[in-house]
Amino acid sequence: MNIDGKAWRTIWLEQGGRSVGVIDQTQLPHSFSIRSLATLDQTAEAIATMVVRGAPLIGVTGAYGLMLALQADPGDASLAAAFEQLNATRPTAINLRWALERVRDRVAPLPPAERAAAAAAEAAAIADEDVAMCEAIGDHGLALLRQLADERPPERRQEPLNVLTHCNAGWLATVDWGTALAPIYKAHRAGLAIHVWVDETRPRNQGANLTAFELGREGVPHTVIVDNAGGHLMQHDLVDAVIVGTDRTTRTGDVCNKIGTYLKALAAFDNGVPFYVALPASTIDWTLADGVAEIPIEARSSEEVTHIQGLSSVGSAAGELVTVQLSPQGSEGFNPAFDVTPARLVTALITERGVAPASEEGLRGLYGEFVPPPTTSVLRRHSRRRRIHGSGA
Ligand code: MRU
Repeated sequence: MNIDGKAWRTIWLEQGGRSVGVIDQTQLPHSFSIRSLATLDQTAEAIATMVVRGAPLIGVTGAYGLMLALQADPGDASLAAAFEQLNATRPTAINLRWALERVRDRVAPLPPAERAAAAAAEAAAIADEDVAMCEAIGDHGLALLRQLADERPPERRQEPLNVLTHCNAGWLATVDWGTALAPIYKAHRAGLAIHVWVDETRPRNQGANLTAFELGREGVPHTVIVDNAGGHLMQHDLVDAVIVGTDRTTRTGDVCNKIGTYLKALAAFDNGVPFYVALPASTIDWTLADGVAEIPIEARSSEEVTHIQGLSSVGSAAGELVTVQLSPQGSEGFNPAFDVTPARLVTALITERGVAPASEEGLRGLYGEFVPPPTTSVLRRHSRRRRIHGSGA
């Protein structure tokens, strides 16, 4: 995607493959800065602190993290320890484990001296495939958006199509194109008039910071709204469709995504607004059948709730990125980073292979080659409280 006329991906190799370049997303939209990741520890820290974030991008970053670990020490113990360290950085997005397993399974049978180069090739393949999958999601989503635009009553067909999105599922969350935003970019480039309602997405504000930044740089008309405005807009016919991304989708079509997605799905359902989820195959967890019961939900630091980061416009700090406290000293915060939207609230899934109902039959119709293990239908509803992971709870 474009920034000031230059095409960027979110991750690339530097120094002949001895380090990995990324865009520091903690500084956006206020400054566009690049970080170099040269070690396993730096890579794990970048994922945990959300220098890079978004399910597909953390998968690719993890894959390159294994490459860096193997450059330093290609032995079996190093491979196993690096896998564990990277996999523990963020527990909800399945793309991370998927990419780490793919690199580990590729390099483990090789002699140690060949492993780093093989890891580099596998990570690059994952990155390139991600771009291709996201672009295909964009093409399938564009067809859907054209259909929605044409089905509107004649008196509304001159207005832009209004799409609401939550969090950031754009190119910054992937290697390029994005998932939920790919159809929007395709529509905009194809001349379909489109306007995006951007949920700010507290507490980390990925919508206000990242989605608004992306859409602005691509020239897509958009408006940032507070997270609680969506229901009101839907009641007043100001939303034609909701499109979100996902961090993990069960084989039955339950969708885990940024906290607050579930409430948007409920409001969409109540108002008859179609609710679409865009995802590549790497986000499907074929081992799980019940998203609410089985998907681990990351709990991040409570400080992300009690404090907020932004550009100061005050006094000597004007122009600096500062963090300010929102809630009273001593008030506790709780910060589950994701929630699960049951498949029954999802109108359809937009994948790189086409659009499907959010159901096991729907997904199997697109991905017939995946066979889930037989033991996974056991539900563990009794352990819901223990599925909240992380340091801030
Ligand atoms: O905590 P984040 O910013 O990594 O969460 C990102 C999301 O929830 C995205 O919507 C999801 O990863 C889909 S991105 C293509």
